[in-house]
Amino acid sequence: MTEPLAFYEHRQFFSHEAPPRTVLAPMEGVVDAMTRSVLTSLGGVDLCLTEFVRVTTQLLPEHVFYKYAPELRSGSRTAAGTPLLIQLLGSDPVCLGENAARAVELGAYGIDLNFGCPAKTVNRHDGGASLLKNPERVANAVRGVRSALPSTVSVSAKVRLGFHDKSLHREIAQAAESGGADWLTVHARTRDEGYQPPAHWAFIASMRESIRIPVIANGECWTPADVMNMQRVSGCRHVMLGRGLLARPSLAREIRGGSELTWAETLDLLRNFYLESFDARGEAFASARLKQWLRFMANGARPTSEISEGSSVHSMVDVGVTPSSRAQNLFERLKRLEPIRKIDFETLA
Ligand SMILES: Cc1cc2nc3c(=O)[nH]c(=O)nc-3n(C[C@H](O)[C@H](O)[C@H](O)COP(=O)(O)O)c2cc1C
Repeated sequence: MTEPLAFYEHRQFFSHEAPPRTVLAPMEGVVDAMTRSVLTSLGGVDLCLTEFVRVTTQLLPEHVFYKYAPELRSGSRTAAGTPLLIQLLGSDPVCLGENAARAVELGAYGIDLNFGCPAKTVNRHDGGASLLKNPERVANAVRGVRSALPSTVSVSAKVRLGFHDKSLHREIAQAAESGGADWLTVHARTRDEGYQPPAHWAFIASMRESIRIPVIANGECWTPADVMNMQRVSGCRHVMLGRGLLARPSLAREIRGGSELTWAETLDLLRNFYLESFDARGEAFASARLKQWLRFMANGARPTSEISEGSSVHSMVDVGVTPSSRAQNLFERLKRLEPIRKIDFETLA
């Protein structure tokens, strides 16, 4: 079993005295090992998570864990050295515990449990946010994992404010704590609210006040000013960033006083991402993922939205990640390369 990193003493990592930490949000179908690699290379991200690994009734074979977390082969860290947690999604405490133990045997630093996934298929099969309807089930799931792991390994939970409404938000936080979670991440929306703005940061404050474990605030941060507002309203120093970090990859380092990405750095990032994805999964995959990332930059992250002529280009300009004419130029050139072949990034620059 891998020993915890010296600096990654989980009880201190997110403690109330710790410096503000930034976590890269888990995003299924988006934040894979290649995305984690390039985003953590920019600096400012302290911790990342895998996409959720679905647990039903079986002990998953090792290759599944390596598929979601190739970083297990390199000390459970990205190339930049950022530690990785494995996120599990399921409802059976025993089975969750067994799979968590296997992930930790393979070298995971910690286990995060997903109680936020809004997908109908996942909820129908009693996973993700559906457990929020009955906080006791959140407690049981966390307890099942906590009791299967040594105390040196962190167990955390990621929740929303509720399923249909927010009436149980405090009970949900208390359930995660009583189950033995070391910290809690709150995405400040109910399951029914999906990803519709706004995020209700004040409810995070209410949850934080009802428990003693550290709370990481999450939802709807696109700019450094948004992050500061979320910290102020929620009272949380630690934050998790998802779509905002894809739309503006330097957001994490900017909130530490670092610089915004230049156009050259943006191209570099996209090129590295494309090439890493190409090496790992081939051209079609790399092209699809590159286009997906461009959509996040262009649209402020609506993964299902189509690349459309006018609106995308305009919002891409609005995002302000890049000088507008160059962003538009890249966008137009990429569109002409449809389906994207091996991209000559030098000519796009
Ligand atoms: C495409 C997509 C996939 C996601 N996948 C996961 C996931 O696997 N596990 C999880 O806990 N949350 C998942 N989320 C939720 C995010 O982690 C995060 O809570 C949410 O996007 C709000 O944060 P943001 O406004 O910073 O993006 C996903 C969100 C999106 C948009």
